Amino acid sequence: MGKMEDYIKEVSQWNKELRDFLESEDVDKNNELWHRLDNFTDIMEGIAGPLDIQELEKIQEQVDGLHSDMENYFTNRQRVGNIYMNEPYIAAGKHVLPPLPYDYKALEPHISGEIMKLHHDKHHQSYVDGLNKAENMLQIARDKGDYNLVKHWSRELAFHGSGHYLHTIFWNNMNPKGGGKPSGALLKEINKYFGSFDRFKAHFSEAAKQVEGVGWALLVWSPRARRLEILQSERHMLLTQWDTIPLLVLDVWEHAYYLQYKNNRGDYVKNWWNVVNWKDVEDRYLKASELKWKPF
Ligand SMILES: [Fe+2]
Repeated sequence: MGKMEDYIKEVSQWNKELRDFLESEDVDKNNELWHRLDNFTDIMEGIAGPLDIQELEKIQEQVDGLHSDMENYFTNRQRVGNIYMNEPYIAAGKHVLPPLPYDYKALEPHISGEIMKLHHDKHHQSYVDGLNKAENMLQIARDKGDYNLVKHWSRELAFHGSGHYLHTIFWNNMNPKGGGKPSGALLKEINKYFGSFDRFKAHFSEAAKQVEGVGWALLVWSPRARRLEILQSERHMLLTQWDTIPLLVLDVWEHAYYLQYKNNRGDYVKNWWNVVNWKDVEDRYLKASELKWKPF
C-alpha cells in the first residue's frame, strides 16, 4: 500500500506545483487549463482512503490529460508568446507598432532591408496612427451621441485596422530561417483540402499575383466550414477588419426588409433589436474570446 500512498502524494504535489505555475504565469482563469486543473484538484482533495483500481485509473487519466495540455501550453507559448496570459486589452486609440521580430536586413536577399525599414517604420506606423485616430473619433462620437461622421470613421477604422492587424501577422509569418514546408497538423490539413502542398502553393501564388490592384493573399481557417481556404483581399478592407470575428450581424440588404419596410431601413433597424438573440451572441463571444493573440 505504501507505493500507492507515495504515488498519491506525488501527484498531489504535482497538482499543487501546476497551480502555482499557472498562477505565476498569470494564465486567464477562464482558460480551459484552469478548468481541467480545478477538476483534478477536486478529485485529489476528495481522496479519503485507499483507492480501488477504477479510481486509480481515473486519476491516471486526468494526469495524462493534464500532461498533454501542459505540453501544448509550452509548445504554443514558445511559438507565439504567452497566448494564455491575461494581458490587458487595447483601449480605444492605444494601439502601438509591434517591433519587427528580426533585423531589417534579416530577410535579404529576398526582401531588402530598405523595403523592410520603410514598410515597417513608415507604412505600418501610419496604419497604427490612423487606427488610433479612427477609434478616438468614434469614442468622441459615442460620448456626444453625434454620428454624422460614422461612415467616414468606420471606413478609416476598417482600412487602418486591417492594415495594422494584417501587417502584425505578416511580420511574424516571415523569418530568416523560413521557407520549406509546414509540418504536422497544418500540413495534414493542407493536404486534406488542397490535395498537396504544391497545389496549395500554386493556388496561393496565383491568388496573390492576381489580386486586382493592391491587396493581400490570405490562407484562412474557416470555423464554420472547419477547414482552410485561400482568399484575396483588394486593398485590405471592403470595410472589414481582418483578424476579427463577427459576433452580432445585421443584414441591411434590401431583400432583408424591403417587402415590409419599403425604403425605411431606419424602422427595420429599430425593430430588429426586438428579435436579437443575445444568448447566441454571448455563446459566440465566449467561444471567440478564447482566441487571444499578443496585443498591439
Ligand atoms: Fe504593407
